[in-house]
Amino acid sequence: MYDTANNFLNVHEWAYGATEVVHILSLTLAIGFIALVDLRLLGFQVGSATSARLARATAVGSLMGLVVAITTGFMVFSTDPVRYFNHPTMRFKLIALVVAIGFNYSVHTRVARGDYSPTIRRAVASISLLLWVTIVFSGLFYSFT
Ligand code: HEM
Repeated sequence: MYDTANNFLNVHEWAYGATEVVHILSLTLAIGFIALVDLRLLGFQVGSATSARLARATAVGSLMGLVVAITTGFMVFSTDPVRYFNHPTMRFKLIALVVAIGFNYSVHTRVARGDYSPTIRRAVASISLLLWVTIVFSGLFYSFT
């Protein structure tokens, strides 16, 4: 049986806080890079870059941010998995995250790098922003309610 009392983050108080900080910084990095591409798809100028160039330039940064956010998320989750898993907001956040990642690495990347109409580009950027904002707010909603 998994004993949460031995979890590194529960044994060392600083480790829990430090992991939370890295969780927040890395998700900011990931979503910041993705949002930059979304703004370009919506028609805003980001320097003189095309959406294809921005998507290529931010791909590694957003991937690294996502990997660290997911890793640290599961580290915090492991401090009390039963409580977290049983909470509807946490489940909602994780399902929304799977949808957002699927959307990001299929439709979003393809549209950002391809030649699509402004309507499609705006629709895809709006869906992407909505998904990521929903995930951030469900994370905050869990923590502060
Ligand atoms: C990029 C994806 C993610 C985003 C945008 C995100 C967003 C957030 C936000 C905004 C918070 C609130 C931070 C605070 O307390 O101030 C949070 C906390 C948390 N997240 Fe994530 N998260 C992500 C991925 C994950 C994953 C994959 C897990 C794993 C299950 C996870 C588990 C947690 C846990 C356990 C907390 C702490 C809740 C608490 O006890 O207060 N997160 N997340």
